[in-house]
Amino acid sequence: ASSLEVDVSKVPLGGEIRVLIGGKPFFIRHRTQAEISAAESVDVSTLPDPQTDDERLRPLPDGEYNRAILVTSGSCTHLGCVPVGPAQGNTGDFGGWYCPCHGSHYDTSGRIRRGPAPSNLPVPDYRYVSPTVINIS
Ligand code: FES
Repeated sequence: ASSLEVDVSKVPLGGEIRVLIGGKPFFIRHRTQAEISAAESVDVSTLPDPQTDDERLRPLPDGEYNRAILVTSGSCTHLGCVPVGPAQGNTGDFGGWYCPCHGSHYDTSGRIRRGPAPSNLPVPDYRYVSPTVINIS
């Protein structure tokens, strides 16, 4: 299987970088404090696919968390379009990503909030190999 190392310290605050692994897109987002707070303050029981923000993060080598960095699949869980985000100037109604194919809105944790997509943007298999470098596979 293919994998990729990404230096997350290069991702601009409030922005993201997009990578392809085995032809599949992934997003690495550097969340602002407001975006982190928004992701943490949601009543999870109201979500279509209930998941806490914590469940969508992975620990640093020392066991701590860098809450600013969110890593998700870049394939909409409806029919696989690639949602737009901060780089395209459209983060949808919940500040995360928007899929223009059929109107799915994802929040700042990549969770589906409105539209036809049935589930959250999946968190890929990844781990921190240093405090600033992740390996995604
Ligand atoms: Fe994203 Fe349909 S593929 S809303």
